[in-house]
Amino acid sequence: MKTTIGVDIELAASIITGGGLVAIPTETVYGLAGNAFDQEALHSIFRVKGRPLGNPLIIHLADSSQLNQYVSFIPKAAVKLIARFSPGPLTYLLPKKDVISDLVTAGSDKVAVRFPNHPLTKALLRKLNLPLAAPSANKFTALSPTLPEHVLDQLGGEIPYILDGGPCEKGIESTVIGFEDDEVIIYRPGSITIDQLKAEGVNVSYLKKTAAHLQSPGMLPFHYAPKTKLILTDQPEAEVNRFANGKIGVLVFSKPIQGVPIDQQFALSEQGDIEEAASKLYAALHIMDKMNFDVLIAARFPESGLGISINDRLQRASSHI
Ligand code: TXA
Ligand code: MG
Repeated sequence: MKTTIGVDIELAASIITGGGLVAIPTETVYGLAGNAFDQEALHSIFRVKGRPLGNPLIIHLADSSQLNQYVSFIPKAAVKLIARFSPGPLTYLLPKKDVISDLVTAGSDKVAVRFPNHPLTKALLRKLNLPLAAPSANKFTALSPTLPEHVLDQLGGEIPYILDGGPCEKGIESTVIGFEDDEVIIYRPGSITIDQLKAEGVNVSYLKKTAAHLQSPGMLPFHYAPKTKLILTDQPEAEVNRFANGKIGVLVFSKPIQGVPIDQQFALSEQGDIEEAASKLYAALHIMDKMNFDVLIAARFPESGLGISINDRLQRASSHI
């Protein structure tokens, strides 16, 4: 199959209504989208991604007025957060109605829903008037795509069309939240920070670690990873010494470290702007992964705000066992 990249929403819509898959731009990462009501399309998503069927998919909707068609209950805290953050990079786990198949939710009675904020994908969703099931458009456990070229690298030849929305603005996946009474539970840290949620006056806690990997595949210990071995550390200089005989790539927030040639170092934001760093994280890792380094050494980010989400991804990318 030949993969084309373009901005033709009509074509994207006709592929999807015909049961095919299209890579779609969102503000977080590119998604691999199919009609959530089409069992064949859902199976194609799992097959193309190489993703085990036990890992549920997020459905994407044009706007929150459609939510009642797909979920049976919306807790008060969810209503509040939807009003504040949607469209945007926040995904809500809510009790599903029967129209949502078990294939989407991997047998769970909850479905993950989000309202992506990208003009092309919003236009596509409005045209289709269907929920789009869409995991990130990468192979299972591999690096997430933030450019059409990243999708082409991993899925080229396996999907007919990539809708080109340019570079993803946020660059890190949506924050996935569930609800227990009116408590908000973080299943996956992401582009909306915990502080942003707390600022809305809701109680926030993390999913218990023991249950995490069972309940959310994004919580798998090994995920979001480049092919090159990656080490996340508080002491990059010490790690550099350990690999002194190898060719080392270094990923830092803003300041290069001592002892490694500057052209082997990637600073995500020279100004120390964490939003800029998040938006460039995956693109930098995609580039570094092609430079034939023996090892990638990433310096841990400040553990607050978006730094928490960046460290989460780097931690999983470094769990090579
Ligand atoms: O930003 C994003 O969320 C991107 C764009 C394309 O929307 N999508 C994305 O999808 O990251 P994916 O499939 O790569 O990750 C989905 C996350 C996983 O952590 C998964 O466990 C969680 O959402 N999830 C989905 N459905 C769930 C469910 N029913 N119960 C628990 N977790 C669920
Ligand atoms: Mg993913």
